Amino acid sequence: MLTQDGKLLVAKSDAISLDILPVMANRHGLITGATGTGKTVSLQVIAESMSALGVPVFITDIKGDISGIAKPGASNPKLDQRVESMKLGEEGFAFRGCPARCWDIFGKDGHPLRATISEMGPVLVSRILDLNDTQAGALQIAFRIADDNGLLLLDFKDLRKMVEFVSMKENRTQFSQSYGNLASATLGAIQRGLLSLEEQGADAFFGEPGLDISDLLRCAPDGRGMVNIMASDRLMQSPRVYAAFLLWLMSELYEQLPEAGDLAKPKLVLFFDEAHLLFASAPKVLLEKIEQVVRLIRSKGVGIYFITQNPVDVPEAVLAQLGNRVQHALRAYTPKEQKAVRAAADSFRPNPAFRTEEAISALGVGEALVSFLDAKGVPGMVERAFVLPPESRIGPLTADERRELVGQSDVAGKYENARDRESAYEMLTARIMQKTADDAAASAEAAGAKKKGGDGFLGDLVTDFAKKTKQSVTRNIANQVGRTLIRGILGGLFGGTVSLNPARCNRPVRGGCPGEGLVAGCGGAMSPHVLKSIKKSHNAVKRSCALRLFLKYMECAIKKNIHRRGKIFAVNLIAYDFLAEANRPCRAVFAARFNRKSRRAL
Ligand SMILES: Nc1ncnc2c1ncn2[C@@H]1O[C@H](COP(=O)(O)OP(=O)(O)OP(=O)(O)O)[C@@H](O)[C@H]1O
Ligand SMILES: [Mg+2]
Repeated sequence: MLTQDGKLLVAKSDAISLDILPVMANRHGLITGATGTGKTVSLQVIAESMSALGVPVFITDIKGDISGIAKPGASNPKLDQRVESMKLGEEGFAFRGCPARCWDIFGKDGHPLRATISEMGPVLVSRILDLNDTQAGALQIAFRIADDNGLLLLDFKDLRKMVEFVSMKENRTQFSQSYGNLASATLGAIQRGLLSLEEQGADAFFGEPGLDISDLLRCAPDGRGMVNIMASDRLMQSPRVYAAFLLWLMSELYEQLPEAGDLAKPKLVLFFDEAHLLFASAPKVLLEKIEQVVRLIRSKGVGIYFITQNPVDVPEAVLAQLGNRVQHALRAYTPKEQKAVRAAADSFRPNPAFRTEEAISALGVGEALVSFLDAKGVPGMVERAFVLPPESRIGPLTADERRELVGQSDVAGKYENARDRESAYEMLTARIMQKTADDAAASAEAAGAKKKGGDGFLGDLVTDFAKKTKQSVTRNIANQVGRTLIRGILGGLFGGTVSLNPARCNRPVRGGCPGEGLVAGCGGAMSPHVLKSIKKSHNAVKRSCALRLFLKYMECAIKKNIHRRGKIFAVNLIAYDFLAEANRPCRAVFAARFNRKSRRAL
């Protein structure tokens, strides 16, 4: 609760009141203690007074018991006695709830809370997937490839598709050349990680609309700070996702908020329960990053309060940043626990009135060793005191109360429906389908040629040709012959349908040489001597193995036509290209160029 002079009253001993100065509230804090000693209630008391001060807060609710902050508390003998013994009535203690919003990554117990994959970035995603350095490097490359190719990584399926795309053999070889080695085993490990994360349901966190940070900074209409409660009970089953979420939130705030210097009160205060998960088995680089963010975020007007069982759970460098401390009882049975108690005691400025180490083990429930920063930023001498009872309810909201709160919230409807706009998944799926269709059509056509052509040897060649020279033919023609290549669906080459509309033969074609016509299609009538002369004059073309095969096939097709029509066309250059369009199987397209002589033959 707030004192008359606007300080955040947290605890009281017989002699003194212990309060956090609003100006020091962004100097971070730490609430520690064994289970059941009163950490959550202490958090609730501090959060309530922040809200009363007009400071919005964000709390991770591990057991659901902090949600009661939204409702007024109720008197019970124990609580009444505490209020009376601490003389809180005189200070204005009254049961009241705080304005609150519920959030839930899984969208069940609150507004869905999401971030996009790109916002998370490769470092945090690697952390979530528990990747080793090599795998993290490969994931970084996948992100980079997505960036370079304009592929948006928004939701989980985008990332899965991206990794799948990079893992495809030909892509992997190609990307390895430009981005560095991408071993298939490494990519396989990433894919397995993604799969297991999806099984945990943690993929729900990734997507749009992502959390708008400004929503967290808003106050209620009456000026009190909004209490944002994030349901984290289910999330605790995926501790790495939980940790990554906290890191993401810190870094987003750090990046989005402007430098604010020393403010009269914080813009936002974060309370992270089970904070040891942030640091547990985190690689050194990440720890350094956390330490840096914790240090720098203060000047953006954000305070972070870590809640954990023992101060030794928090790395030294971070611990040094946490100015406001509430230490509940620690039990010390084993030598290891005794050592931890000593370490916790040593982190306080001693009070000559008692021995800190002894006091820690002797504290009762709701009692704590407290030290807050004074106006100069110096940690106060440690005091043994009783934490205030909260004005709001101790314990969880009922399901109905929670539903009502979510329904009436100022952000109701803003995040509920996930948006799935076109991103990497859709783009890559289309690309992969296209390629599969191309491949299938190419082999089907090749197989068709083998069957219908009735020429085993030629059929084989054509199949081979279709497989191997799809690109090189186009390139050869473009480079070596320099003739116009036309694209269009003009007939099925490998299907053996050789027909020609004679009307088109005489039509002048754009880009053709004078006296020459360019005709689409294959076959028609052609006299054998014309064909011979044409073949002779185009040795350059024939040098290309692919084209030689092609000409051979043309020859075969033409010969068939001789039988049918008794006439023959002259073909002096044949170019072809494969058309690959979205919803059409790959078709062979070719053009035949006729010289003057062959036109006469027509
Ligand atoms: N300041 C307080 N005023 C009144 N009651 C308190 C206070 N602190 C603790 N209690 C009582 O102790 C109980 C346990 O406290 P709390 O839930 O805060 O413990 P905890 O340390 O968070 O436990 P856990 O580690 O299991 O989360 C509360 O339900 C409440 O009844
Ligand atoms: Mg608790």
